[in-house]
Amino acid sequence: MATGVEKKAETIMATGNSPATVEKAGIMLRAGALVSFPTETVYGLGADATNGQAVARIFEAKKRPSFNPLIVHVADEDAARRIAVFDSRADIVAATLWPGPLTLILPIAPGAGLSDLVTAGLHTVAVRVPDHDLAQAILRAAAIPVAAPSANPSGRVSPTTPMHVASGLGDAVDLIVAGGRTQVGIESTILDLSGPKARLLRPGAVLPGEIESLIGPIETASSDDANADRPIAPGQLRSHYAPNAPVRLNARAVHDGEILITFGPDLRQGPNVINLSESGDLIEAAASLFAALLAADRPGIAGIAVAPIPDDGIGVAINDRLRRAAAPRP
Ligand code: TXA
Ligand code: MG
Repeated sequence: MATGVEKKAETIMATGNSPATVEKAGIMLRAGALVSFPTETVYGLGADATNGQAVARIFEAKKRPSFNPLIVHVADEDAARRIAVFDSRADIVAATLWPGPLTLILPIAPGAGLSDLVTAGLHTVAVRVPDHDLAQAILRAAAIPVAAPSANPSGRVSPTTPMHVASGLGDAVDLIVAGGRTQVGIESTILDLSGPKARLLRPGAVLPGEIESLIGPIETASSDDANADRPIAPGQLRSHYAPNAPVRLNARAVHDGEILITFGPDLRQGPNVINLSESGDLIEAAASLFAALLAADRPGIAGIAVAPIPDDGIGVAINDRLRRAAAPRP
């Protein structure tokens, strides 16, 4: 671990759901501290969503453009209903798919008490109930809505291990609750139910078909139709999830000095080859994706070549993240 980390941030190994760790995380969140904790998707950087100063520190730590609203995490649907207004579509989606890797955009409930910084002044809020024991325990201990973007510097690769959090944000975090490697590995699906048409704002592990079987057809927002009255989700920014090295997609061959990220049975092996899933399992590949990008991103390399990934199931979300990792940088 980077030595700078020990200065301010304190990494607690919370394997086995240590009650003392959970209690400490809850107390710190209520006191306005920044606490990183695991969810089933990626590690979040949490702060009290009702405390503007605490939320401001998230933007500062991530160096995130403050026009981006944040996802609010709560332990269960009852807590979600205290901050967001549910319609019949939200009722059925939440009842079926929560807790889980799905974020709903809903109108803010009257008296929700959320900081304007969390919602970027919008009349809607992004709300999510994570399916992770440690996240659940911390949210229950804190007993407040917790704003938590992914715990990485803005525009960079999202963290799937506590070490990623420590090396990316270091002592900008007050506490990192370590809970091992995250299972899903890419951020939650974002579904906008605030208007008459349901819209998929970010692909993730909850697939459009699962949602459509509950509420009928949903639209897919493309990165181009982020118009003025809609916030641009980082998931919709063209360059995001970017390593330092350039990323080349759909690579069949490896160029001199490149690291290869491949998928499925592949005879190429060695220190410069990372396989997302030798058995060709897309779910395993999603779980390994961000760790692979971070591991490939070594100083002095010519670039990162990524073999083609099938564009079905969670492969759609993998390719979405890869396209943004490869996009021209601002
Ligand atoms: O899996 C996840 O969702 C992770 C873990 C930590 O839970 N969190 C995460 O949060 O990815 P973040 O803040 O990195 O992404 C939040 C996304 C952004 O793309 C943001 O623009 C969008 O949600 N968002 C938040 N509020 C919104 C709103 N009211 N309308 C539209 N998009 C919104
Ligand atoms: Mg993020």
